[in-house]
Parts: sequence; structure tokens; C-alpha cells
Amino acid sequence: METLTAVRGFKDILPPETQLWRHIEDTARKVFSTFGFQEIRVPILEKTDLFTRGIGESTDIVEKEMYTFHDRGEESLTLRPEATASVIRAYLEHALHTSETVTKLFTIGPMFRRERPQKGRYRQFHQIDAEILGPDDPRTDAELILMLIQFLRTLGLNGLTLDINSLGCPECRPAYREAILGYLHGQEEQLCSDCRRRLKTNPLRVFDCKVDLCGQIIGQAPRLTQFICSGCRDHFAKVQQALKQFELPYCLNDKMVRGLDYYTRTTFEVTAGSLGAQNAVVGGGRYDHLVQELGGPDIPGIGFAIGFERLVSMIPEGIPLTPPALFIAALGEPALQRAFLIGNRLRCGGIIVEMDHAGRSLKSQMKKADRLQCKYTLIIGERELQENRALLRDMSASTQEEVCLDQFEEMFSNRAR
Ligand code: HAM
Repeated sequence: METLTAVRGFKDILPPETQLWRHIEDTARKVFSTFGFQEIRVPILEKTDLFTRGIGESTDIVEKEMYTFHDRGEESLTLRPEATASVIRAYLEHALHTSETVTKLFTIGPMFRRERPQKGRYRQFHQIDAEILGPDDPRTDAELILMLIQFLRTLGLNGLTLDINSLGCPECRPAYREAILGYLHGQEEQLCSDCRRRLKTNPLRVFDCKVDLCGQIIGQAPRLTQFICSGCRDHFAKVQQALKQFELPYCLNDKMVRGLDYYTRTTFEVTAGSLGAQNAVVGGGRYDHLVQELGGPDIPGIGFAIGFERLVSMIPEGIPLTPPALFIAALGEPALQRAFLIGNRLRCGGIIVEMDHAGRSLKSQMKKADRLQCKYTLIIGERELQENRALLRDMSASTQEEVCLDQFEEMFSNRAR
């Protein structure tokens, strides 16, 4: 019978890589909590409207990447393609804004986008997402970016680039929209059909197009930075000043428009050359009108999302696994039975113990103990068992001592402590 495989673009995360995942999650929880963030868990499935309204109808995500279906003909549901819209939905639904003026939330979990799978790009991928709702001052932007960089540094990641840009606000964007439309006037026919459509909905999206010719045409277009109003310019200058105070190097990238429509003012990405074509490991920015667009009060926000799989691929050595404290090599059925008891009792006491129930040769059991880098091996032979003793071998020092089996558990628990 044909064996079943996972869905294309969906992948299993196997041990020992899962240990690295947990290490990354633990690090995020630790670093984020020092900056006052609390964890929120939101559903994977939401009403489709949340994303069409939140992310924007002219984005690639909403246009062609969402996993949307009718729930038994009742309502249109979508597997979340990102977390920001869901976090805000929960924030409003539970009126979190009424108890605090500043709300800092993070969430970790799977997201779904029906993109063409390739290295670093999956249809189910994971994000570590952080959002600050309430403040709109530039220090908040810098603080969030500082936390992000601190997290990446704690993981030992170097060679990353932080790109920042300002996407302006509803005051300054209309003039820029006109400028882009003016610039593209007469060249519309050369643009791809998606971009021609985007001209009507959101001309800024043309910057995001992957088609070569569209890229060439838009490459010469006027930039939003030439059009932003004094309020946005001042805000962006203060964000940069604060980044400098923390000596955080950054590049100004006025072509970066981000792939979601909700952004205003500060936007940023962290990229790594080592990642190849899919080189953005983090994307984020300010969204001062999203809460209102989703039916809430006028509350600004800013956040980022880190691509988990891309982060993991940047830590190739992984993290060292904790080796077992003890391997029990046993010869013959009575010794195996004794090893089974001792080993499992030690495990219940919190000591990592490995053993082999199959009764293989001493040589192959010792090989396994070596491979697992066990600190000690307890060797129980048939004759030793009858005399209630065994050999305890210190694997790195290559020394061994005779131990009394009856007292071994207590003795080893003390030693391992
Ligand atoms: P995004 O730029 O769409 O932003 O995604 C953030 C990160 O998720 C990307 O930089 C990338 O590392 C990872 N990512 C995205 N798509 C895939 C994929 N198909 N396969 C693997 N990794 C992927 C957002 O999602 C915004 N919600 C970020 C945000 C939060 N902005 C404000 N708050």
C-alpha cells in the first residue's frame, strides 16, 4: 500500500531539532518578559473578513495565498496567514484596552500561506510575533527593535542587517500615491496584470512585485521619503536617534514597502545574507490605524514577526543536547531486569538515564553509551549480579570502580546532584 506523506509545503519538525525550537522559544519568553511582554494564544482559524480587512485586499496574501474554506456552507473561515490581525481581534474582543493604556503581547505558533514552496518558504511556517498596542511615541519603536536585536544576539546570531523605512501616514500618502500614478502613467501596459490591478487599489504594492520588468520600472519611481509630512519625518528622525543611542546599526531602505497594507510610519526588516533568496527573517512595523479599521477605538500599534524556520536554519550547529548522566549496560535477562528497575527509578528522580532492553552484546552497548556521550556507564554482568555488585565506568576519565548494586541508586543520585 502506498505510504502517506505530509502535505506539500507542510513539514515535520523532528528531534533533535525540536530541542533547538524549544531553546529558541524559551529564549524569546525570557527576553520578551524582561521588556514587559505577556504571552497570548489565539486560534489558528478566524473569520475570513478579519484578514481581508486587516491585511488588505490588494496584498499577495489575501489575493492568492490564504487557505479559505466554507465551514459546511455556513461561514467563510481562513487559516491564519499571520498573527497581528488575530491578536488585535482578541485585544478588542476582550476589551484589554480598557484596563491598560499600554498592552504588550507576544505569541508563538504556526501560520499558513499557500506560497510556492522553496528553501525557507513553506505553506505552514511558524512565527514568533510581538505587538505593542497603545503608545505611538518613537521611543516605543526603538524599544521594540532593541528587544528584537537583543533576542537575536542572545541566540548568538551575527551578520544580520536591520533595514528601516517610514511609510508615512494617511496625511502624506495620498500625495505620494498621485506621484506614483503620475510616474507610471503611460507605462501601465508594461506592468504585469497583478500590478495593473494594484494601481487601482494600492499603487505602493508595485514595489513588492517579483516580476523583473515591474521591478525595473518601479525602481526609478519617486520615493515616499520625499513626500512624508513633517510629523512623520520628525517621528522617523527620533526613532533613528534612539536606535543610535543603543548603537544599533541600521540601513535606510526606502524601497521597503512590506507585504501587508496596514503599515504606517516606521517599518523594518531583518535580513541575513546566509538565507539566500528568502532572506527576511523578521518583518515588522507600526500600524496606527489597524485597530480602528478592525472596529476598535483609535489606538496605535507596532509589532514584528520572526520566521521560526528561517531563524532555525541560521543556527546550523543547533544547541548541544544534554547527554545522559548514566548508561546501564546489562548482560543476560536477570541483569536486564535489574537495569530496568534501577534505570527507571533514577529517571523518576530526575536523572537522565539510557539503557538498551534488547540484550545486545556488551561491546555494542558500550558503543551506544559512547555515541550518546553518557558521563557514566553502569555495567551489570551475570556473575556480578549474583554478588550484588557492578562496575561503574567514568566514560571521559576511562576509570572504573566497583559499586554495590543495593546502594547504587542512592549513591548515584547524590553524585549526579
Ligand atoms: P511578514 O513579513 O509577512 O510579516 O512575515 C514575517 C516573517 O515571517 C518573514 O520575515 C519570514 O521570516 C516569515 N515568513 C513569512 N512567510 C513565510 C513562509 N511562507 N515560509 C517561511 N517563513 C515565512 C507579518 O507576518 C506581520 N504580521 C509582522 C508584524 C507583526 N507586523 C507588525 N506586527
